[in-house]
Amino acid sequence: MTVAMAAVLAVVVGSLISCAETRASEKKVSLTPGPEVEELEQSMSYEEYQKRYKEVFGTATEEMAEDGNPAELALDDGLDLVNAVAGSKGLSCASCHGKDGVKLKGIAATYPKYDPAIKGIATVALQINRCREGNMGAEPFKYESYDQLVITMYVKSLSNGVPIHVSIDGPARPFYDKGKVYYFKRQGQFNFSCAVCHVKYAGYMARTNLISNNKHHGDHWPAYRLKWGKTGSMQRRFRGCLKNMRAERPAFQSEIFRDLELYLTSIANGEPVQVPGLRM
Ligand code: HEC
Ligand code: HEC
Repeated sequence: MTVAMAAVLAVVVGSLISCAETRASEKKVSLTPGPEVEELEQSMSYEEYQKRYKEVFGTATEEMAEDGNPAELALDDGLDLVNAVAGSKGLSCASCHGKDGVKLKGIAATYPKYDPAIKGIATVALQINRCREGNMGAEPFKYESYDQLVITMYVKSLSNGVPIHVSIDGPARPFYDKGKVYYFKRQGQFNFSCAVCHVKYAGYMARTNLISNNKHHGDHWPAYRLKWGKTGSMQRRFRGCLKNMRAERPAFQSEIFRDLELYLTSIANGEPVQVPGLRM
């Protein structure tokens, strides 16, 4: 999105917000820190949202899917990386996780998850790099590099069809809370929160964009995006929206992004993993 578009978007969404706010004062639920965090209500039911999506996009998404997902081709490269020896210990992922990584089947449906070794949330991408460094004596993959994305995509695709079931209880709870607070916290030059768009105005148009409901934001990453002309991660998408918000952009796999990924993925609990996704 261009700067001009973002500015228009801010005006459009901003005016929606101000008229809503004069109608009824917002219910403030303290998710704990700070008055800037407001828990917003879902704009409409998911069924209503789907109806609107159909009205805006018609069969465009089905047609796109019929043309095939370019990222599917890259899955083979991910598979090759899983079987390839790398690093000072002369091992491949397959040495420990079975040929083609078969022992990792179903695993990604539980990610992100709390890992006592890092006293925090591990994503699949982070765990792969921890195995590279700790178990193989190999360099970690640079986040968003081709190899990093395709191996993550392949490992996650081993859980395709498995219902997502990330834990947000026990030791994961404080991290889930942090991710949720971040999602509902207003920030950046336009004073938006993620939730203003994806919860409160999901299903409304922001200029020519339909703002998506977040129910399926966590189930399809890494995904091929036509606008990027390539595959990218969910966290790349976080950074894109933060840029539009003119807000600070945390680094890939930073603690707050892992917490945010846990929060958004938990919303998709019960939905099947579908990797790689395909988006406009
Ligand atoms: C020397 C054996 C070894 C190698 C090689 C190895 N791993 Fe691991 N991996 C482990 C162990 C042990 C764990 C359990 C958690 C830990 O120790 O971090 C693990 C955990 C994982 C998990 C999470 C599993 C779970 O149940 O949560 C994933 C995903 C994973 N590895 C992927 C990979 C990939 C991809 C590679 C290659 C880049 C790789 N591993 C290389 C030993 C290995
Ligand atoms: C000004 C409105 C706005 C704000 C604020 C906003 N987004 Fe978005 N977001 C969009 C639009 C528009 C899209 C593109 C259409 C779509 O896919 O929803 C999008 C797309 C996304 C996607 C991809 C969805 C998919 O299905 O692939 C994710 C994930 C996402 N946003 C997360 C966030 C997060 C996290 C924040 C806060 C850091 C945020 N967004 C803030 C408007 C917004």
